[in-house]
Amino acid sequence: MRRTLFVASAMFLCGIVFPRPNFTQEKAASTEPKMTEEDTAKKNPIPPTAESLAEARKMFGYNCAMCHGKTGDGKGDLAADMKLELRDWRDPASLEKLTDGELFWIISNGKGKMPGNGERDKERMRWNYVNLVRSFAKKDAAAADKPKTENPQP
Ligand code: HEC
Repeated sequence: MRRTLFVASAMFLCGIVFPRPNFTQEKAASTEPKMTEEDTAKKNPIPPTAESLAEARKMFGYNCAMCHGKTGDGKGDLAADMKLELRDWRDPASLEKLTDGELFWIISNGKGKMPGNGERDKERMRWNYVNLVRSFAKKDAAAADKPKTENPQP
């Protein structure tokens, strides 16, 4: 009798002490980042230098070129696989309407199929990317101004 009582009360207690977990899915759609006017107006604090661009180009090769292409033409292998339609940054008109702040925000947070890099790359590096992305067009424009010389490449 005693034993039965003990077992019964133990079972009873378990029901109280271990209530069923509540699996409500409060996944945070509302915390998804949104670009604000402040973000759009942000100025690039990092001046483009040969050094910072070289550093950005190296990381771009690892993290971005598979989609955006080594030259920024938007024709990376992964972009082709994913059937992405990317801007050709060699065309100066392609990014004309976007501010540095917007580019920085997209690089940091991602947009659509583009993954964000806010956790992988430091803030300084993300501004470096902005400079690099802008430079793809400038480089071509500068090259077009140069007098045509023999191409030294084999
Ligand atoms: C999986 C493919 C993919 C990778 C990897 C990727 N991007 Fe993108 N990126 C996109 C897509 C798609 C868009 C267009 C997003 C939209 O407008 O919906 C985009 C947009 C951008 C934009 C905004 C301007 C524009 O052309 O629309 C910038 C700047 C940018 N990417 C930079 C980068 C940088 C820098 C990296 C590497 C750190 C990177 N991306 C890696 C797919 C990618």
